[in-house]
Amino acid sequence: MKIAIFPGDGIGPEVTREAVRVLQALDLPGMVLFEGDVGGVAYHRHGHPLPAETLEMARVADAVLFGAVGDPSCDGLERHLRPEQAILGLRAELGLFANLRPATTFPGLETMSALRPEIACAIDLLIVRELNGDVYFGEKGMRTLGDGRRQGWDMMSYAEDEVRRIAHVAFRAAQARDRRLVSVDKANVLETSQLWRDVVNEVATEYPDVAVEHMYVDNAAMQLVRDPGRFDVVVTGNLFGDILSDQASMCVGSIGLLASASLGERQTEHGTFGLYEPIHGSAPDIAAHSKANPMATILSAAMMLRHSFGREAEAARIETAVAKALADGVRGADLGGDAGTEAVGAAVLERL
Ligand code: NAI
Ligand code: MG
Repeated sequence: MKIAIFPGDGIGPEVTREAVRVLQALDLPGMVLFEGDVGGVAYHRHGHPLPAETLEMARVADAVLFGAVGDPSCDGLERHLRPEQAILGLRAELGLFANLRPATTFPGLETMSALRPEIACAIDLLIVRELNGDVYFGEKGMRTLGDGRRQGWDMMSYAEDEVRRIAHVAFRAAQARDRRLVSVDKANVLETSQLWRDVVNEVATEYPDVAVEHMYVDNAAMQLVRDPGRFDVVVTGNLFGDILSDQASMCVGSIGLLASASLGERQTEHGTFGLYEPIHGSAPDIAAHSKANPMATILSAAMMLRHSFGREAEAARIETAVAKALADGVRGADLGGDAGTEAVGAAVLERL
């Protein structure tokens, strides 16, 4: 079990440290951890946010645990040198096109939700976000027009096969859950979305046991707040998925609670290769203040054990320990409490 640990910037190292402690406490046979630099820290040490050694480390690993990247001291850099290029580069280079982002209410935490508790308690959904296409990877540019105004553009596009493979991931996920799939697009105005919808419908014929519904992204944003219980699996493109999953996190209670898995097609001797990270960023506003909730990263480690190592029992042990800590009232600053990052990690460890 070779696991590459990429802590990154800001709160990345703080939350990753706690997740590593949890992994080590499980004492799994043959588990080897090695650490690499990504993001601003990598730029400052090696001149590039995703150094070749780091990428190579990811390639020889069975899974990657990633903290977060983003460093205000790099703000003036050209785009290809900015810290965020590390995560985009890893997703592209490793072919990680499927991003799974579960959002579930934790018992005892309903009152922390941005929603009314009776609505919040119904959240149990999985966002399946496409990760290798869309405006993030399309042609971009900036130019000055004849009259001196600047114009910027980012091309939104999806090819059929890109939609098809993420649709299959989503349908299979729905089969393993409540067999309800909502595909989110903006087909009323975007060609990309029309193609998306056509392909999802085509793939749907292979999964007659899954109920499919199409929803415009603006309506989906509204429904996520009005009636989140109506969602089981949500499949959507890179941009819409990014936004909707941050929104879902506040429905659960904090962005510090949401984990994610990024998967591709590569298989290792243990399972599917994947990169696992909290959905939040490097949070420079709270870095070095022990205010970061490490639970999202700890839960990402659980997803890693499940998807990349087939260790369902250990994954469930971690998830239960986190839920217990929350039920027992362990609260970091993000949840209105005063437990520091290390104390939250220790509380999870104690309940393992
Ligand atoms: P962010 O997710 O870092 O922070 C948003 C807000 O949530 C902040 O107020 C922060 O304090 C809070 N927060 C985030 N994680 C938390 C945690 N674990 N516990 C408690 N509070 C938490 O997003 P923001 O501020 O938009 O971006 C900061 C930097 O992170 C930027 O450079 C951005 O590009 C980068 N970023 C990196 C990502 C990645 O590495 N995958 C994802 C999102 C943003
Ligand atoms: Mg985001």
